[in-house]
Amino acid sequence: SQPLTLYEKMGGAETIDCIVSAFYPRVQSDPLLAPLFPEDIRPVMEKQKCFLTQFFGGPPLYSQKYGHPRLRMRHLPFPITPSRANAWLRCMSLALDEAGIEGELRQEMWSRLYFTASHMINTDEEDI
Ligand code: HEM
Repeated sequence: SQPLTLYEKMGGAETIDCIVSAFYPRVQSDPLLAPLFPEDIRPVMEKQKCFLTQFFGGPPLYSQKYGHPRLRMRHLPFPITPSRANAWLRCMSLALDEAGIEGELRQEMWSRLYFTASHMINTDEEDI
């Protein structure tokens, strides 16, 4: 018996769907984040579902469809300041609330999301 992945512990595709569906409406109504995203958010949601699936140990859907994530590089066109990373994390925290994710599972998910969001920062606050 292998240890369960975070993907399995959270409840798989259904939970990923729930998180992504709760996350993007918040992003789109956040004054710091909204201007960075396209009006039609559906393609972004589709990519994020694939990415989070593999990020949390599920099937490698993102890499299969879109190639190596190279996430920091893909974010370089967008000025990501510390306050935008915080806003992203705030939206994600509320999405995890909405998906009912608690306890140790939440802590494990959070530390990965927090680490990755911090890694995306590519612009100083005073440069925007
Ligand atoms: C794409 C913003 C952090 C995963 C994007 C896009 C923006 C963005 C503007 C492009 C949308 C478009 O297609 O036009 C941000 C900001 C972040 C952040 C402000 C704050 C730190 C993260 C994190 C993850 C992530 C932490 C993963 C855990 C993705 C993925 C895509 C994406 C998978 C799609 C990449 C592709 O084009 O294939 N993000 N992001 N982002 N983001 Fe982020």
